[in-house]
Amino acid sequence: MSIEIKKGLMGVTVDETSISKVMPEINSLTYRGYAAQDLCANCGFEEVAYLILNGNLPNKKQLIAFKKEERADRKLSKSLIKVLKQIPKKAHPMDVARTAVSVMGLEDKETFDNSPKANMRKTMRIFAKTPVALAAFYRLRKGKKIIEPKKNLSFAENFFHMCFGKVPNKDIVKAFDVSLILYAEHSFNVSTFTARTITSSLSDIHGAITGAIASLKGPLHGGANEEVMHMMKKIKKPENAEKWINKALDNKDVVMGFGHRVYKSGDSRVPTMREYFGKVAKIKKDKKFEKIYDILEKVMIDRKNIYPNVDYPTGPTYHLMGFDTDFFTPIFVISRITGWAAHIIEQHSTNKLIRPLAAYNGSKYRKVIEISKR
Ligand code: CMC
Repeated sequence: MSIEIKKGLMGVTVDETSISKVMPEINSLTYRGYAAQDLCANCGFEEVAYLILNGNLPNKKQLIAFKKEERADRKLSKSLIKVLKQIPKKAHPMDVARTAVSVMGLEDKETFDNSPKANMRKTMRIFAKTPVALAAFYRLRKGKKIIEPKKNLSFAENFFHMCFGKVPNKDIVKAFDVSLILYAEHSFNVSTFTARTITSSLSDIHGAITGAIASLKGPLHGGANEEVMHMMKKIKKPENAEKWINKALDNKDVVMGFGHRVYKSGDSRVPTMREYFGKVAKIKKDKKFEKIYDILEKVMIDRKNIYPNVDYPTGPTYHLMGFDTDFFTPIFVISRITGWAAHIIEQHSTNKLIRPLAAYNGSKYRKVIEISKR
């Protein structure tokens, strides 16, 4: 009997979720029923994080309490700071993020408690501390002093403050906040499915998020925003862009920041992020990468009918904001922690061990021959 193999689980529905959906009727990614771009226009990242984790948008009182908890949880333990100081400066910050969350799991007093309430408290600690740990590494590897988080700054402002020692103008902060909202959640993508798979053996949230970070690092997933920037830097100037992309397509290369498993005629997050990329480029008075962006996009659509995904505009936006390229995917992490945590909590509440089958294509049965006779 032949077995139908769905490689990459393409088109396979493996479970239900109430967290997010790409709604065809509005051609948009939605979180708990709200379109991601409407959330960008009307809410701050913390409001959206609350929505993803709790199911509804917060009222004023709930938002104040949520922000207060996140800000109170920012401080790192002395032992985590010690670990960060020992990490080689050349380490990839995604590996630092993975290590930091893993260390938090060693230290958390509720690591073994998988109840929804404990998981929510642990989520808040991971959510609050991971950006602090990453910013600390951002400074340490440059030989600079760590900057402590500030309780009077928002999640986005605080990240700038801890990395650069200053908060940029409000339009730059808004563009960063929008990128965090757009990155926060996307149903059963690779890293989220990884987190749910780890959770399905009734393992803990620190382990599941550590695994999710490792999964996000890959260039076919979150790592694409870094690859986009490497590509744009290689192209150097707009005049080189058309020739470069045509050659890449002639060589059948995969062009980073394009294509998607779910969206086949455009990622609904791109127009919003593209708009904010333009705003940042205008503020920074640097249009070079915007020009390269437009040329590559046009050729990809004309020749391949393949559209950009959200990693395409975020890459150059983060570059213009001044972040090192290898910090782009870690920024994705600090946002996606919300989506991962919501899925981990959902998986615990309706758990079934994730254990698919494989069609065996190895050797037939053979007898073990004694080592001297092989
Ligand atoms: N450049 C060139 N060709 C592409 C690209 C691309 N970026 N994406 C898809 N194709 C081609 C692919 O070669 C294939 O052609 P053919 O049918 O002739 O073999 C066809 O389009 C279908 O692609 P696929 O690889 O079978 O589609 P998939 O659903 O397995 O892959 C993807 C989706 C995201 C892995 C892929 O589009 C890709 O590798 N993109 C580049 C990496 C990237 O930008 N990743 C970010 C994903 S979205 C946000 C996130 O998760 O961070």
